[in-house]
Amino acid sequence: SIPSDITCVADYEALAKDYIDTPVYEYIAGGSGNEQSLRANIEAFQSVQLVNRLLVDCSAGTTATQLLGQSFRHPVLLAPVAYQKLVHPLGELETARAAEALDTCMVTSTLSSCTLEEIAQAHQGNRWFQLYFQVDRAHTLDLVRRAEAAGYSALMVTLDASIQASNRRAKRAGFQFPTAVRPENLQRYQPPQQVTLSTDQSVIFQGAMAEAPGWSDLEWLLANTSLPVLVKGVLHPNDAKQLAAMGVSGVVVSNHGGRALDGVPSAVHVLPQIRAALGKDVTVLADGGVRSGYDVFKLLALGADAVMVGRPLLYGLAVAGALGVAHILRMLRDELEVCMALTGCPTLQEIDRQCLWHSEQETN
Ligand code: FNR
Repeated sequence: SIPSDITCVADYEALAKDYIDTPVYEYIAGGSGNEQSLRANIEAFQSVQLVNRLLVDCSAGTTATQLLGQSFRHPVLLAPVAYQKLVHPLGELETARAAEALDTCMVTSTLSSCTLEEIAQAHQGNRWFQLYFQVDRAHTLDLVRRAEAAGYSALMVTLDASIQASNRRAKRAGFQFPTAVRPENLQRYQPPQQVTLSTDQSVIFQGAMAEAPGWSDLEWLLANTSLPVLVKGVLHPNDAKQLAAMGVSGVVVSNHGGRALDGVPSAVHVLPQIRAALGKDVTVLADGGVRSGYDVFKLLALGADAVMVGRPLLYGLAVAGALGVAHILRMLRDELEVCMALTGCPTLQEIDRQCLWHSEQETN
């Protein structure tokens, strides 16, 4: 059950420490490098301020929206988060139940600890699949076909994590994957052959990057699926433009929760530029550091069509399983509705830069 003194997502974050073994907690909470980006994700929201508006009729208000031609009741999605059995014995299945109960889109990770087919059975609503390119194209294609067959209605291709950045906190705490927590989707594929590098070769360049996808792989993917494709991990407007020109349906402005390249800015900082580069018609999602409905509202005002939460779902899952994840979604939504009502935005379409306070506020 849900502890009665929980009032917000941050309460779950604090409480989760009592429910998760320390090394696992450090693995989840930690970021890469010296965690500059991880901190930026939280701090950036503090520098954005809202403006309330008076006497606006919001009695017909709604958070309903369309993304990729699909209907959503709320603009908050569950981000792809690997290995959810780290914090709950049923892992992704519990998250899927919460998504089902609250009519939320769950994005299933390639590295889920239940199979994508099992997760699909637990969640009939909107579900998307997060794809990591596999070293062997046949394996990538098989994952795509399985996702299509299981009723996933979009692919979110994550491209910012070709190299596993070191998570120093996890390392110091001695984190290791329990043998029972495995990438279940990949068990049926033969692991790629280990490349032996000579002493003058680099594990980064001749190792990881030699196997990393390139633009041609993305082109190949677009030619081989009829599902809409979003690319996750976009931070540069030129990448965003090139992706849109290739026929990608949307981008996710994300620094991987501060777990990929450390030192990059948060979505709060780069979203306006990415939206400006893409115009109105391309779907733009954002994530990183969203811990309240106020944060959701701020990202929408800065140009996102919808947002995702990562760590909060794991904290809810650890504390109270499906109920905890559902509770987190509920609180985010309620707070978003408060923001909309008091800023005078009855629908998501009205949420824009005008809702934010700028020191030289234009008045209109
Ligand atoms: C992630 N994230 C992630 N992203 C992805 O595309 N595929 C994945 O398998 C994972 N796995 C994963 C595991 C853990 C433990 C974390 C914390 C994050 C990144 C995730 O989708 C999202 O971008 C961030 O979590 C968003 O930041 P917040 O909400 O955690 O601050």
